[in-house]
Amino acid sequence: MISVTRREQFAASHRLYNPAWSEERNAEVFGKCNNLAGHGHNYVLEVTVVGDVDPDTGYVVDLKLLKDIIRERVMDKLDHKNLNVDVDCLAGVIPTAENIATGIWRQLADALPAGRLERIVLHETENNKVEYRGES
Ligand code: NI
Repeated sequence: MISVTRREQFAASHRLYNPAWSEERNAEVFGKCNNLAGHGHNYVLEVTVVGDVDPDTGYVVDLKLLKDIIRERVMDKLDHKNLNVDVDCLAGVIPTAENIATGIWRQLADALPAGRLERIVLHETENNKVEYRGES
């Protein structure tokens, strides 16, 4: 087994708030991330696919095909969007890096041209990233 990773970057805005809470509670828990008009990040996404090397191609997965799937199912939906309102795969969740990563996982897990999705890493800032390896 060998893993292959594709890296992408996208820009998006979000606001962290829980609609079930008061304004005061939201401000207390989310601080600056609760800013009413939102704020933006330049996200870096890493998608790792694991599998066996296909003897005919020498690939685990053709990175051109993987890139196209990521573009269609993730980049076109998230890049230059407001993650609170524009993105169907994030509807009803607080768009934290954790929830964005699991949303991206669900967009990709069943759509890969070859191999198995092993890991999603989402860097929200230089210093903060989350990693998701699927349920269980
Ligand atoms: Ni933020």
